[in-house]
Amino acid sequence: MNLLIVGSGGREHALAWKLSQSPKVAKIFVAPGNSGCVGLAECVDIDIGNLRLLVRWTREHDIGLVIPGSETYYMAGIVDAFKDSGIPVFGPDRSAAELEGSKSFAKGLMRRHGIPTADFAEFEQFEAAMRYLDSRSEGPLVVKADGLCAGKGVVVCQNLDAARHAVGQMMRERAFGEAGAKVVVEELLRGQEVTILALTDGKTIAPLASSQDHKAAFDNDEGPNTGGMGAYSPAPILTDEVMDEVVERILVPTVHAMNEERRRFRGLLYAGLMLTGGGPKVLEYNVRFGDPETQPVLMRLKSDLFDLLYATVKGKLADQTLEWRDEAAVCVVLASGGYPGAYVKGKPVSGLERAAARKDTVVFHAGAKMNRQGQVTTDGGRVFGVTSLGPDIASAVKNAYQAVGDISFEGMRFRSDIGKKAL
Ligand code: AMP
Ligand code: GLY
Repeated sequence: MNLLIVGSGGREHALAWKLSQSPKVAKIFVAPGNSGCVGLAECVDIDIGNLRLLVRWTREHDIGLVIPGSETYYMAGIVDAFKDSGIPVFGPDRSAAELEGSKSFAKGLMRRHGIPTADFAEFEQFEAAMRYLDSRSEGPLVVKADGLCAGKGVVVCQNLDAARHAVGQMMRERAFGEAGAKVVVEELLRGQEVTILALTDGKTIAPLASSQDHKAAFDNDEGPNTGGMGAYSPAPILTDEVMDEVVERILVPTVHAMNEERRRFRGLLYAGLMLTGGGPKVLEYNVRFGDPETQPVLMRLKSDLFDLLYATVKGKLADQTLEWRDEAAVCVVLASGGYPGAYVKGKPVSGLERAAARKDTVVFHAGAKMNRQGQVTTDGGRVFGVTSLGPDIASAVKNAYQAVGDISFEGMRFRSDIGKKAL
């Protein structure tokens, strides 16, 4: 079967890498893809914003499954656009994608269905948000823009003044555009974060191996939030016992709640959790594979990913089993200088072959492209996700940082403490 992956990040490279190992997959196209996909897949330059054109292209190229990477495609209605085409598309339709597309919807769903999450209030009016903050006693709060902000619309505020400032930035200054027309203000949760990715066809839920992201830009979780500076899998803090609780109190009720509200969720449900003293609570839902969590998680997956994705779309997930390698995997993101703020693109990269030749290491490309001469240059904020396996997290960390040492480009920056929390 021919596949089309839509997107250009490290997650999409990882999906192409894993799917290319399936004997059932004939050819993979990635639109637009990146330099890492070259050799595994054909990168195609089509206007992915034009969904009608995309459906036609897909039909002409005999595509048997479409796999969109990013939430933006789901929120743009990519699944809905293919509805009458007979071509299966992995993931939720527009109405179910609201789980990620609107924090207010997600929080409301959790409140209506008793799914554990931080206490919150939401506002569509700046003055009302300010009055609420005036009425609160001093202390930390988290301010979130309602809509999609590429992981950057959340501000953890240590005091009320910081919260007022964040609300002003979102609602008045429109720092995140229309995504900030509505804000959610919530209680700060304390504990360790973990990510659970789970496949679901709306009936069966198949959790993947646990992982942990590193959202802050700098070591020791300092600096602004980014799309993710590194990840590891498994997350040792997520014991079998806690995992059972996550399934019972969070994953199952979420899938049920979506069914009950007639927004049947099919695809990859991403639960970002805080393991608090009062049990696991949901920080956020996403409706697609996490980036960079997907990179270490797929390195550990033994089962055929194509079978899993296809069964999810076809409502046959109950027939599938998941098998994992015992090794741990760690992904270190190499970013452009300045990211998550402004950065310069087009810097030539060296050392990729040497890093990629290392045993049990894959350099997943993200914001990177290749020119006609075969030279890879930087093309985004997060440029590579250097991902290595090892018998345990400590060894995987060591292997990944050794490979990181091979690669260089002007302004290259990375966190030096990925995986440290697990040690
Ligand atoms: P989100 O996009 O909602 O996951 O938020 C991004 C990051 O902000 C999370 O990964 C957490 O590190 C942090 N965060 C979000 N909500 C809270 C909360 N209620 N308490 C503490 N930290 C939070
Ligand atoms: N790594 C966080 C995300 O994919 O949203």
